[in-house]
Amino acid sequence: MNVVCIGAGYVGSVTGTAFAAIGHQTTIIDIDPKKIEQLNGGKSPIYEPGMEQLLPALIGKNLFATTSFEAVAEAHVVFIAVGTPSKEDGTADLGYIKLAAQKIGRELSKDRFTVIVNKSTVPVGTTELVASLIEEASGFEADEHFTVVSNPEFLREGYALEDVFFPDRIVVGTSSPQGLQVMRELYHNLIERVGYDQLSERLPFLCDRQTPKAIYFETDPKSAELIKYAANAFLAVKISYINEMARLCEVLGGNVLAVAEGMGLDTRIGKKFLQVSSGWSGSCFPKDTAELLATSQKYGSEMMVVKAAVASNESMHMYVVEKVIRQLQSLNGKRIGILGLTFKPDTDDARKTQAAAIIQKLVELGASVSVHDPQGMAMFQSLNSHLPIVYCHEPLDTGTRADAVILLTHWQEYQELDWAAMHSLMRRPYVLDTRNFLDSARLKAIGFAYEGLGLATNSLTLAGDGVMGG
Ligand code: UDX
Repeated sequence: MNVVCIGAGYVGSVTGTAFAAIGHQTTIIDIDPKKIEQLNGGKSPIYEPGMEQLLPALIGKNLFATTSFEAVAEAHVVFIAVGTPSKEDGTADLGYIKLAAQKIGRELSKDRFTVIVNKSTVPVGTTELVASLIEEASGFEADEHFTVVSNPEFLREGYALEDVFFPDRIVVGTSSPQGLQVMRELYHNLIERVGYDQLSERLPFLCDRQTPKAIYFETDPKSAELIKYAANAFLAVKISYINEMARLCEVLGGNVLAVAEGMGLDTRIGKKFLQVSSGWSGSCFPKDTAELLATSQKYGSEMMVVKAAVASNESMHMYVVEKVIRQLQSLNGKRIGILGLTFKPDTDDARKTQAAAIIQKLVELGASVSVHDPQGMAMFQSLNSHLPIVYCHEPLDTGTRADAVILLTHWQEYQELDWAAMHSLMRRPYVLDTRNFLDSARLKAIGFAYEGLGLATNSLTLAGDGVMGG
C-alpha cells in the first residue's frame, strides 16, 4: 500500500519506518526541513533504539521523507502523527492537527478512496472534526471519497519499535466499511509477522518472539479515542498508588518492593507499573491526564480519581526534596548531584520531566546543583535555560564535594558507575535512589548512607564517618 505519515516526531518517525519495514511504500512528511534532511541521510530525528539500524536500509528504497504534501494524492492511507501539546487549561491544542487536515484536504485525489488515520492522541470528537475540515478543504464528502479513522498509538519511548512490531492490541475506530477493510489490509503483515525473519538481522529483538499475536480490536471512533486516554490515565493512577504506598511504608515500616511484588502476584492487578519513582512524567502521562481531567470537568463529569493521581504525583516530586532536607537540613550552600534528567531511561526526551520541578526547588532553597544524563542534557538545557545548574559530561563529576547525589532516572550506566570513586569525591556520602535501582548492599559496604523510597525496613544505614543517622 501507499502510506503517508504526517509528522516526523516520536510517533511519526517510528510508525513510518515500521510500515516501510513491513513492505509498504511509505512517505514521511514534516514541515521541518532539518528532520527531513536527517531522515534522508539515514539518521533518526529522535533517539530511539533500533531506528539507526533500520533506517539506512529503507530510505530511498520504499521509505521517503519530504516537506511536500504531494504524496497524499497517491496514498491509500494517510497517518496524522503531529504533536498535540497541552494548552494553559490542560486541554489539547489541536492547531497542528487542523493544519494537517487542511493540507491533506487540498491534496486529496478524487480518483481513489483515501483513509486518513488519527494516530496522535486526540480528544473525543477529533475524528469528526478532521473529517469536516477535510470536507471543507477538498470539496469531497466524507465516507464517499475518504474516511477518517481513529487508530491511537500505544508505543513507549525507548521501546517504540518493539511496541510497534509486537503490540498487545491494535485499536481501530471507524464505522466505515471501506475504512475497516483498508485498515485490516494495512496491518496484515504486522499481525502475521510477515518478513520479521529478514528484519531480525538488523533488529535482533524481532526473532524468536514467543508472545501472542496482537489483538485487532475494532470499535467506534469515539471509543477508540477514549481508550488511549483511559489506558494512560489508568497507568498513571497505578504508579501514583504505589508511590503513595511507598510513603506509607516509610511511616509504618513496610518494604514497598515486597508490597508491590505481593500485590502484583494477583493476576487481576499484575506486576507491571508498580515500580516506585519520584513520580510519572514525560510527554504523554502529564498531557493525557490533564486533557482527560479538563474535558471531564468541562462536561460536568469530573474524573476524581485522575484528579487525585495528578495531585499525588506533584507531591511525590516534592517528597524527594523533603527527604533530602531531612538529611541535610538547610540546603543553603549545599551541593547536590543529580543523575538522570529524562523521564525514564533510553530516551533523550526531557519534556515535562520531574527533574525540572525537583531541581527548581533545590535551587530555590539555596543548593548548588550539578547534573548528568546520558542522552537528555541538550533537550533539558534548552527547555530549562533559566536553571542555574552545572551540566557534567561525566556522571562522577556530579559528586564532586557533593552533600547528596539523587538518582532520578534509572539509566543502566548508573548501576555500573564506579561508586567507590564517587564516594571519595563526595563531601557527605549520601545517595537517594528514587527508583530503588542501585545495589544498596554494595553502596552501604562502600560507606554510603543509602536511601531508597519506601524501604523502611531497610532504612538508611550509615557506614563510615557518622555524619548522618539512620
Ligand atoms: C506511555 C504509555 O506507556 C504508552 O502506551 C503511550 O503510548 C505513551 O505514554 P511513555 O510515556 O513512553 O509511554 O512512558 P512509560 O514507559 O509508560 O512511563 C511513563 C512514566 O511513568 C515515566 O516517567 C516512568 O518512569 C514512570 N513509571 C513507569 C514509573 O514511575 N513506574 C512504573 O512502574 C512505570
